[in-house]
Amino acid sequence: MPTLFEIAQGCNTDKTMPSATHGHSYLHIYEKFLSFLDQYSSLRILEIGVRYGGSINMLQKRFPNAFVVGLDIEPCEFAVHDQSRYEFFQGRQDDTEILATITKKFESFDLIIDDGSHLISDYVNTFLFLQKYLRKTGFYIIEDLQNNYYEHNLTRSTKANNNGEQFNQFQAQMMKSLHLSKSYNLSNLSPNMFSIHHYPGFMVLTKSFVF
Ligand SMILES: C[S@@+](CC[C@H](N)C(=O)[O-])C[C@H]1O[C@@H](n2cnc3c(N)ncnc32)[C@H](O)[C@@H]1O
Repeated sequence: MPTLFEIAQGCNTDKTMPSATHGHSYLHIYEKFLSFLDQYSSLRILEIGVRYGGSINMLQKRFPNAFVVGLDIEPCEFAVHDQSRYEFFQGRQDDTEILATITKKFESFDLIIDDGSHLISDYVNTFLFLQKYLRKTGFYIIEDLQNNYYEHNLTRSTKANNNGEQFNQFQAQMMKSLHLSKSYNLSNLSPNMFSIHHYPGFMVLTKSFVF
């Protein structure tokens, strides 16, 4: 099976770009995590942020046993690799109604990638809603975290994120919850994650000891 990076060469996705600080693309690192999913006979994947569909097609090709769900604020028309394994929802990632519709239909996911607005309030709220629907053996990836430190809008969908302050708060809460686990009640923030992995530009969260 070709790697995610190799497959992505034929797809229109910016995930092949080397990170700003290191020479590896996200996909070189994703491969190490996501090959863990190869042991399962059927998978469900959700990607927030579809744009030209490049990543959706890459995921379908890399995981021929995966049903891939896409959510985007825009309609995102593209030539889907395998239409029978794809469903698209149009809406905002912080809209809990649309997230509830998706999770009611698909119940749980092996992989959730948040490549949507990159606005911290959006991806934190999306994570707080969706984390319950991540399978115990799944991966939750939040991309383009460099946006947390920009002072001004650098892209169409990215707004200022307080120079990383909100991101630091989010991380502090996550770390506290991770280390104190069930003995610490975080009220509405009770993600119960097992691990948090940081790489240049993104983080991967897991719910159990997957390696
Ligand atoms: C970086 S592009 C996604 C690229 C795609 N994941 C790939 O790798 O090929 C980000 C997408 O997020 C969408 N987006 C921006 N704000 C959003 C929001 N609040 N909710 C849902 N999608 C949003 C944009 O319309 C855009 O298509």
